[in-house]
Amino acid sequence: MACAIVEELQKQYGSENAAFFSGPGNLPALKLANAFGSAELLIYGAHIMSYQPAGQVPVLWMSEKSMFTAGEPVRGGVPVCWPWFGPDPNGKFGGHGYARVSMWHVAGVSQTPAGETSVSLTLTESDVDAKFAPQPFKLELTVTLGSALVIALKVYNTGTENLTYSGALHSYFNVADSSAIKVEGLAGCDYLDKVVNCDGVQEDDIVIDREIDRVYCRTSGICRVIDPVFGRVIKIAKAGSTSTVVWNPWIDKSKRMPDFGDEEYHTMVCVEAANVPAAGDARTLVPGAMGELRQMISVE
Ligand code: BG6
Repeated sequence: MACAIVEELQKQYGSENAAFFSGPGNLPALKLANAFGSAELLIYGAHIMSYQPAGQVPVLWMSEKSMFTAGEPVRGGVPVCWPWFGPDPNGKFGGHGYARVSMWHVAGVSQTPAGETSVSLTLTESDVDAKFAPQPFKLELTVTLGSALVIALKVYNTGTENLTYSGALHSYFNVADSSAIKVEGLAGCDYLDKVVNCDGVQEDDIVIDREIDRVYCRTSGICRVIDPVFGRVIKIAKAGSTSTVVWNPWIDKSKRMPDFGDEEYHTMVCVEAANVPAAGDARTLVPGAMGELRQMISVE
């Protein structure tokens, strides 16, 4: 089944810089490769699995325990969380919305004169399991592999009622040792701490020495993951988001998650460009309107 889809996609969109293949779990996937580096995506979830700038170790992290099963989220890379962030506000379904557990469509692959490669994927209400009873919408995720990896999620309200949503580009970053890194760019920001359930103000750069699950409020600037062991800095810029989530499950939560290795918290950190309702960052689109959430990831 995946083979026929892969062949069809390759025929329609494949190029020197874009190759479709049967990915983990036999899910159709795409590899972009050019002079800037490479990136792999699953069509399922429009999920970026990897990003490796030329000459660098991978920038994105993927769990060795990730399930690659339709209907289940993938653990790592960049899950597209939409139309809700965190638990379902109606208490019916799993966390982080249905976009990450739906099969998207490839809408186009293109190459710029500067040598960048882009792919666009789309999702509408008719692609989503009817049990979610989705309102009319169209999502378009465009991923551009250039001197940065640019991820742009456009949300269109194609219905006749207002469309309110939250979500995140839930990026998992690959670090040599999470307890040796610093996350810069959020000092002075208010946060909601989901581990100890309280509010606070971030005094300095973030150091990870325990479970962290914080929503930083009124944040629109650049974050940097300073990794002294890999000797590099990952720069994370964004637009269309005023909340940033920083997450590392640490020891106990890692053990509780079936799709996350017990020791894997040592090598990852999530810094998410989010629209979190609790931070006053839910979005509402009137009929016909469009909203955009972007994240730009590069290595300095
Ligand atoms: C983060 C949340 O964004 O995602 C955490 O703040 C959550 O609370 C984490 O545990 C992972 O979520 P999930 O649904 O992919 O296990």
